[in-house]
Amino acid sequence: MNLFEVYKLWDIEPVRGLDTKLWDKDGAEYTDLYGGHAVISVGHCHPHYVKMISEQLGKLGFYSNAVQNSLQRDLAQRLGRICGYDDYSLFLCNSGAEANENALKVASFHTGKARVLAFRKAFHGRTSGAVAATDNPKIQAPFNATDNIVFAPLNDLEAVDNELSRGGFAAVIIEGIQGVAGIYEPTEEFINGLRLLCDKYGCLLILDEIQSGYGRTGKFFAHQHYGVRADIITMAKGMGNGFPIGGILISPAIKASYGMLGTTFGGNHLACTAALAVLDIIDNEHLVENAAKIGEYFTMAFCDDKALKEYRGKGLMIGLELRDEYVGLRDRLLFEKHFFTGAAGAQVIRLLPSLTVSQETAESFVNAWKELTL
Ligand SMILES: Cc1ncc(COP(=O)(O)O)c(C=O)c1O
Repeated sequence: MNLFEVYKLWDIEPVRGLDTKLWDKDGAEYTDLYGGHAVISVGHCHPHYVKMISEQLGKLGFYSNAVQNSLQRDLAQRLGRICGYDDYSLFLCNSGAEANENALKVASFHTGKARVLAFRKAFHGRTSGAVAATDNPKIQAPFNATDNIVFAPLNDLEAVDNELSRGGFAAVIIEGIQGVAGIYEPTEEFINGLRLLCDKYGCLLILDEIQSGYGRTGKFFAHQHYGVRADIITMAKGMGNGFPIGGILISPAIKASYGMLGTTFGGNHLACTAALAVLDIIDNEHLVENAAKIGEYFTMAFCDDKALKEYRGKGLMIGLELRDEYVGLRDRLLFEKHFFTGAAGAQVIRLLPSLTVSQETAESFVNAWKELTL
């Protein structure tokens, strides 16, 4: 049987990892500033992470959501404390798209309304509801077409006001920082204005922090740079450092009812253990602070870089928009200098490294970049 070929692959197979290093099957070493798409938050094979998951696997790997699971409660308490939303409730699932799907559903249950406002160039996942709120016709099947979603331009409060005034909106969904689009930030004025408009029109503000959350931008969630509070926050990616887990944080104003949401695998013992290990490491190693510090270094190192049209982002969620003559640099960084990076189209290189990335590694990347762009 062949694989259903939906991914464009590089001809490299990493078989081993340690922190921000990867090795392929021939022993060649790479530096990972991509983190498997913002997933590796605490480094590959961190010893504490490996130990906790291995020990849990030897005790109990899985049981369903029909029984008590104190790991879920521990995770909710730890996460609430560390992210500043300790009065919220946690629902656990398995991926980012599933988190957004559930968030939209909760908003609709709570408000009794069906419409959702999302933003141009947004990416919220590939399942039905999530992809309908994603502004990319290439990944929306005819089946996903719905009249319930409208798109407004990012950072245009007047356009949002106009749309919401038509009525029937359950939610506005927005990424903490748009990732797949190429790293575009909502302004402070916009995100605060959005909060006020949601209150005015009686709809919920959903912050998709799946890529921008978990400490990546130098705060636990990107929207916390602006002091705004969301009604629902979605997360996945860095939450499990590669072990599939997603979650949604839900405001105390929203009440649960039995059967409203559910999943077989969500919040299983191994997934919760992985997420607890990640929180331990983020906490013990002060990784949110490290993300801010190394992000600051990159900002300075790339200011006035001749290969760049624009530097965008915060902390370790960075978009490097290339001038036309440097398109192709990402492949050169990989094949000549052995640095993995992400991309958004041909023109934007995305840096999404583990929050453990060291100053030395950051400098080695900047040096490699400068050598290639002399
Ligand atoms: C902002 C955002 N939302 C949702 C998703 C979907 O997450 P998943 O691929 O885990 O379904 C992604 C994935 O890239 C994302 O960046």
